[in-house]
Amino acid sequence: MSTFGTLFRVTTYGESHCASVGAIIDGCPPGLPLAAQDVQVQLSRRRPGQSNLTTPRDEKDLVHLQSGIEHGVTLGTPIGLLVRNEDQRPKDYSETDLYPRPSHADWTYLEKYGVKASSGGGRSSARETIGRVAAGAIAEKYLKLAYGIEIVAFVSSVGKIDMPSAVSPPSQVPDDDDDTVEDALSPEFVELLKTVTREQVDAQPTRCPHAETSERMIKRILRAKEANDSIGGTVTCVIRGAPAGLGEPVFDKLEATLAHAMLSIPATKAFEIGSGFRGTRVPGSRHNDAFVRREGGGGLATRTNWSGGVQGGISNGEDIYFRVGFKSPATITQPQETAQYDGTPGTLAARGRHDPCVVPRAVPIVEAMAALVIMDQVLIQNARRAAVSLLPPITTLPPTMVKPTAPAAKAEGEEKH
Ligand SMILES: Cc1cc2nc3c(=O)[nH]c(=O)nc-3n(C[C@H](O)[C@H](O)[C@H](O)COP(=O)(O)O)c2cc1C
Repeated sequence: MSTFGTLFRVTTYGESHCASVGAIIDGCPPGLPLAAQDVQVQLSRRRPGQSNLTTPRDEKDLVHLQSGIEHGVTLGTPIGLLVRNEDQRPKDYSETDLYPRPSHADWTYLEKYGVKASSGGGRSSARETIGRVAAGAIAEKYLKLAYGIEIVAFVSSVGKIDMPSAVSPPSQVPDDDDDTVEDALSPEFVELLKTVTREQVDAQPTRCPHAETSERMIKRILRAKEANDSIGGTVTCVIRGAPAGLGEPVFDKLEATLAHAMLSIPATKAFEIGSGFRGTRVPGSRHNDAFVRREGGGGLATRTNWSGGVQGGISNGEDIYFRVGFKSPATITQPQETAQYDGTPGTLAARGRHDPCVVPRAVPIVEAMAALVIMDQVLIQNARRAAVSLLPPITTLPPTMVKPTAPAAKAEGEEKH
């Protein structure tokens, strides 16, 4: 349906060519300082027409805060966010009155509802993600102020072009019985996840923070565009500073909720967390994240982080990182042999303005969905903690059953990598 979240509940509305798109957020904590600009920054990173790598549809995507905020502070009541659709050209879609676009949502929407929006993919259009990005920006502001949480996504591949350190070359797996394979991610990529900033990401029009790779990606996207074709890619996202304890096993494990959020974004086809599919090539002896004492406080940290910050569906206090795969966009203007709605074979050459590659614009959408997941889980875990805090301390159970209260003494010569 159109609502996401349990305690921080976001409902998006709007179609590609209707009057406006937006969201209602229910459950935002009161007292959060909030200005339209907090939301606009992310909407402007998502908007079309940012460069020659994206669709030329020219939308400013200016947000209008409708409710739930007064004197720059949230009231705890539903927040309404509205963005007008301005640069609409429904005529661009006259061919697709006859033809369902191959691999788009025209046919399945019609099969499901028996009626569909007249143009532009309706609700399946990426215009819908405006509501998510606006709501995510508000969640992010809370997470930053309350926990210092940072969320940064970036483009990690376009077509066959990967950031150099993201994937181990196949030559590093010489034969079936050789377990001395490289780690799932290179040390450089692991370091990048710890440090990468939005400024570094936005310094490249592709939003790939590796300048040399970005240049190659630009050429690849422009080649697709010139051929009236399209190309896919991946977005990697890291969430830094999330506390341990987020995620609701068993059906709402944190990775499951993140996967749900990410795979709800249009054009997504894949999700992997931590070492992901590459981790399956590494033996457990090398893949396990050994525990060490957490620096500067109680509790445990891990020496490595192949788990991607989640174990047993619960965050462990390490960085949470994951990768999302986006397909090559369906609407291409080169002629395609296909069939009309009534089954008559024919050739569709779609018109209209389309993204040759969605990943540069998908970056803030991935960040927003990550923020919505973490925000919701934070509120759920805080509700549990608040309920527990009203009870007397547990003294009747064996110590092995209860979380130790005092940190153990620091061991000599211990180092965290
Ligand atoms: C930022 C963004 C921009 C997109 N732009 C286009 C586009 O210009 N043309 C297109 O056919 N699909 C585009 N899509 C993808 C479609 O919305 C999506 O493929 C379609 O709704 C079918 O859904 P599915 O791919 O999830 O199955 C875009 C997706 C995102 C996230």
